[in-house]
Parts: sequence; structure tokens; C-alpha cells
Amino acid sequence: MSAFSHAPVLLEAFLRHAEPQSGARWIDATFGRGGHTAALLERGCSVLAFDRDAEAIAAAAALEAVWPNRMCAMRSDFSEMTARCGEAGWEAADGILFDLGVSSPQFDDPARGFSFRYEAPLDMRMDQRQETTAASIVNGMEEGPLADLFYHLGGERQSRRIAKAIVRRRESRPIETTTDLAEVVAAASPRRRGEKIHPATQIFQALRMAVNREVEALEEALPAATALLRPGGVLAVISFHSGEDRIVKHYLRDRSRRTLETPSFAPEAVNPDFCFDRVERVLPDDAETAANPRARSARLRLAWKTGTQENL
Ligand SMILES: C[S@@+](CC[C@H](N)C(=O)[O-])C[C@H]1O[C@@H](n2cnc3c(N)ncnc32)[C@H](O)[C@@H]1O
Repeated sequence: MSAFSHAPVLLEAFLRHAEPQSGARWIDATFGRGGHTAALLERGCSVLAFDRDAEAIAAAAALEAVWPNRMCAMRSDFSEMTARCGEAGWEAADGILFDLGVSSPQFDDPARGFSFRYEAPLDMRMDQRQETTAASIVNGMEEGPLADLFYHLGGERQSRRIAKAIVRRRESRPIETTTDLAEVVAAASPRRRGEKIHPATQIFQALRMAVNREVEALEEALPAATALLRPGGVLAVISFHSGEDRIVKHYLRDRSRRTLETPSFAPEAVNPDFCFDRVERVLPDDAETAANPRARSARLRLAWKTGTQENL
């Protein structure tokens, strides 16, 4: 493992399948603490890395110091990568990696408010410059949309009941801390026999995804990344959330079919969106999930852009 890394998920599988070559240009859309970036640099690649978290970009300085000519980190939302690549003078990339979600340093820092394991302000912003926080959603959104958010982003079956309890509670005083919210949710959730996870787990996940517009950013970034890839280049996406994985799966499926489905009597129609001639899905193996329980829900999807391979 690299000296800079912190057990990045699916790192070995990513390297084995994407096969980054010395001299290739890679975009790491989600720098985090640079585990994947460091591995790419150690293989001789140049890396343009993005993260919207100020602390992640500060941590990137250590890698920029070691590889000043091949490493550049920019604080940005990855959905704006087209503009950022223009600023950095990168017209195209040989590979682009997304390792979605929250990083361990974000989740484990009590002050960031991502976890109900610690009492903290209800924050959950990856980019500390933005206005919307988990508290502003929990205390400001109407009951119906709040329930929809819990259902769609958290898969929470008790979404209506929990949203109602939140609205009732905030009529007397706002919900301001992580533990405050976890208690309101727990009180509104019927105990399910044998359930091991805390009743607030899915609510916290849904709020985090809403605060950070995670679904929207991914939907905007996939076409931008595809356009930036060189022919033969590889797009790699690691996701932990089934909803995000579904977005990636459908995106790649719709662009890896050469023809469109037509009725049997109609002539074959060429798919105008076809641009990936190979797609793969990789799951963590038993050794990785045993060593790192966080890896259990991880999925890596890779897709190769049509055209001849150059410098991968
Ligand atoms: C799972 S971590 C990445 C870990 C990284 N691969 C490593 O080895 O350290 C995800 C990172 O992506 C960042 N992130 C999530 N969504 C983002 C977005 N839309 N734009 C930029 N960065 C984002 C988060 O701030 C977080 O630091």
C-alpha cells in the first residue's frame, strides 16, 4: 500500500482492470486523501485531482510536493470538470476515476456532523462554502418533500412517519445537533426485530446526499467525463449507494449498445449515443470485505471509450 494512502476501497481491483500506464493522464474526480491518486502517480501517470472539500485539497499539497510536475489538485465540484480541465490546459484524459461518497476523514471528524456517533452541529457539507446544511433542510423543508427525500435517497420505509415527527418537534424548537436528530428519528421508528443498524442510519445518508446534491452532481459529471476521455480511454466509477450505482449502470448500458431496440419487423437502428465498446463490473473480494467492512457495498464499474488505445 502507498505511504500516502488510507486503505482506499477497491484500489487493487481498479489498478488491475484499468491498467494505468506510465505517461498517461488521469483525472481523479474525488481526491479524498489521495489513495488512488498516489497509486497512479507511483505508476508514472500525471494526475489532475478534484475535491470540493478544503481539507482534502490541503492534504493534496503533500503529493504535489513529491511530484510537482505530474500532480495538480483543484478545489472544485467534479460536475464542473470541463471548465477546470480547460483552466489546467487538459483537453483530454486517458482515464477518469470517481470514488463516490464521503471520505473516512470527513465521516470520522465529529465537527463535520456526518455521523450520529458524535454530538455535533447538523452540518454534513462536503464544501464548507455552501449555504445549505443538514440543519437547514431538517428545519426548513416541508413535511411532504422531506418524506420523499428520506424515501428516495435513504430507502427509508417509515419516511412519512419520521418526517411528521421532525415537523412536530421543530414546532417547539429547531433540531440543531446530530444526536438530537437521531433521537427524534429513533423515537418515531418502530423497533424492527433483529435489526442491527441504528434507525437513523438511512435518514443520515439521505440528508448527506441531499445537502451535497450527490445524485445531481453525478448525473452532470458522467457526460462531462465521457466527453473528456480520449478514444480508448477508461471511465472508472466506485459507488457505495445502490441508487448511485444504478445511475452509473444505466448510463453505461445506454452508451454501450451499438443498436437500439426496435420491433422485430423494423430495420435495426444505430444507437447515436454508442461510445463505450467494453464495460465491466467488479465487486470487492472476500479478503477486502473482511479487512474493510466499508468495502462490502462497494461496486466498481469500468467502461472503455471507443477508439484505439494510445497511452493508457
Ligand atoms: C470516498 S472519498 C474518496 C477517497 C479517495 N479515493 C482516497 O483514496 O482517498 C470521496 C471524496 O469525494 C469528494 N466528493 C464527493 N462528491 C464530490 C463532488 N461532487 N465534487 C468534488 N468532490 C466530491 C468528497 O469530498 C470526498 O473527499
